[in-house]
Amino acid sequence: MSHAAARHPIPHGYAKAHVSPEDYRARYAESVKDPETFWGREGRRLDWVQPYTRVKNTDFTLGKVSIRWFEDGVLNACVNCVDRHLPARAGQTAIIWEPDDPAAPARHITYAELSDKVNRMANVLLSQGVMRGDRVVIYLPMIPEAAFAMLACARIGAIHSIVFAGFSPDALANRINDCGAKLVITADTAPRGGRKTALKSNTDAALLHCSDRVRCLVIKHTGDQTTWVQGRDVDVLALMDQVSPDCPARPMGAEDPLFILYTSGSTGRPKGVVHTTGGYLVYASMTHQCTFDYQDGDVFWCTADVGWVTGHSYIVYGPLANGATTLMFEGVPTFPDPGRFWAVCEKHKVTQFYTAPTAIRSLMGQGPEWVERHDLSSLRILGSVGEPINPEAWAWYDKHVGKGRCPIVDTFWQTETGGHMITSLPYAIETKPGAATLPFFGVSPAVLDAASGTVIEGNGVEGVLAISDSWPGQMRTLWGDHQRFEEAYFQQYPGYYFTGDGCRRDEDGYYWITGRVDDVINVSGHRMGTAEVESALVAHPKVAEAAVVGYPHDIKGQGIYAYVTVMNDVTPSEELRRELEGWVRTEIGPIAKPDLIQWAPGLPKTRSGKIMRRILRKIAENDYGSLGDTSTLAEPAVVDDLIDNRMNRG
Ligand code: PRX
Repeated sequence: MSHAAARHPIPHGYAKAHVSPEDYRARYAESVKDPETFWGREGRRLDWVQPYTRVKNTDFTLGKVSIRWFEDGVLNACVNCVDRHLPARAGQTAIIWEPDDPAAPARHITYAELSDKVNRMANVLLSQGVMRGDRVVIYLPMIPEAAFAMLACARIGAIHSIVFAGFSPDALANRINDCGAKLVITADTAPRGGRKTALKSNTDAALLHCSDRVRCLVIKHTGDQTTWVQGRDVDVLALMDQVSPDCPARPMGAEDPLFILYTSGSTGRPKGVVHTTGGYLVYASMTHQCTFDYQDGDVFWCTADVGWVTGHSYIVYGPLANGATTLMFEGVPTFPDPGRFWAVCEKHKVTQFYTAPTAIRSLMGQGPEWVERHDLSSLRILGSVGEPINPEAWAWYDKHVGKGRCPIVDTFWQTETGGHMITSLPYAIETKPGAATLPFFGVSPAVLDAASGTVIEGNGVEGVLAISDSWPGQMRTLWGDHQRFEEAYFQQYPGYYFTGDGCRRDEDGYYWITGRVDDVINVSGHRMGTAEVESALVAHPKVAEAAVVGYPHDIKGQGIYAYVTVMNDVTPSEELRRELEGWVRTEIGPIAKPDLIQWAPGLPKTRSGKIMRRILRKIAENDYGSLGDTSTLAEPAVVDDLIDNRMNRG
């Protein structure tokens, strides 16, 4: 990426914009100088049962990290996303649902209907004994019932934890057990790109590894036959018809957990990121409104899955808190053809379109004719999320999708941050292709020297990205493990929240995210811990040892490269390679399947037995000319073998 990338000017003449260039400068300055006043005012964008008197109470000191916002306020997230819009918006569409099959009818769910469904689903949950603070796992495809289920949990004070429908039964079971869920909500089957995933049978398989008290609520979405366990399985839609459409919303403390979302870290099992009610919702609402300049009458489409944080904040909570119309798409960008995204934009007159660079790159490869076939004149703003966007993809997005007239917002953030952290604002900040640009209100980024942790001042500098003070959308803890929370995010650079990303601040003070500096990789915008894939591989009886690293991949951003040492009595073969690929799919899910597997007679280790991952990364990147110092290796010869037999020669 070039430092001297051209600036793209702010489009003029948009008088209604929520944030102008002058606003950005003035309000940003206030937000970091006087967060109490700034957020005290912004917090009032929500309806509170009992208004807060205390705005910010946060401490990044190692050993006593504590993050509390609006702590004495009382509110209900569901009321803020549904009930409070009814007087003015009962007949307005809240959710547009576009099914996988383009010939099947779309659904337009008004706020009145949303209220009815959510209340009924909340009553269904109560009828199953779900109480305030109980955990509910949601394992659903992209159907409106996923949003109903989230909001129903919020309504009664239950904590939802969504597990992406692409995860395997094992991954689902681990999450159900880790958060101690009382029940899981799933669907019979899930069509995607014309193929079906058997979610109910995955759930059956998962529940074999869970307490038999865990109930299974099933949405009969396709009507496909599934097994049915009497006394455990519940037909949700049938029950929703029977219960009352009124369910009182439970007043919740601002710091009561709203949801847990598991995400990959650099070590160990996935971490249960906890977000609470008040701060998260204020932040999701404000970022949705400002970053996408959402205006009444707009149709907002975020193509993420509700199984990821992007779906939480920008399909459900942010848009609905703002009384917006949000589009939910069940399918994939290439079904029935590579013009599907654009067909959906045209059909529903989408105004803001928010997707991941990996999707753009894969559609780019299909040629612009798929875009040009559709009328995209409704589009006003384009967004990007999940990984750095390469300038070629940025230029294609700008030219063919935005026709050079739609500002592109490149939003850097994380599961942990709840909402956008560094992003341009469409009518306030000039963009540069590939730069996340400037911090959102209330965000204080710091570039640190990776080794010493000292702050690097000034512009034209590079280091790792940390944040020096709290913002309302920040995660509060890891479920059941506050110590791991402190260790993972606050220990390496005391006094800071460490993002795990590298970054550059250019001559204009713009931030460029350069990718993870830890053992987390980003595959098609999906976050993956190399340790997770390694532990799946070594669980296979024929595998003695495995090391997994990322390598640059044209479409996916990063691909998964696995070095595998087999047991003494095993001969590597193509068949074993396929077996291991299938194994990882079943252990974690299709998104974790290694792209390349190299048979490694040995792995490069230090004399103390530590795997030298830096060397493995270089070989996987086909950059073996610069391996650096290998003199500390126990057996330097293994490196030559790995280089000779490397899989990526591109
Ligand atoms: O490395 C950064 C990358 O995605 C990571 C967070 O992944 P996850 O928690 O799954 O959340 C993804 C969606 C918010 C970050 O640590 N990342 C996310 N957005 C960007 C990005 N890297 C560069 N530019 C972005 N816009």
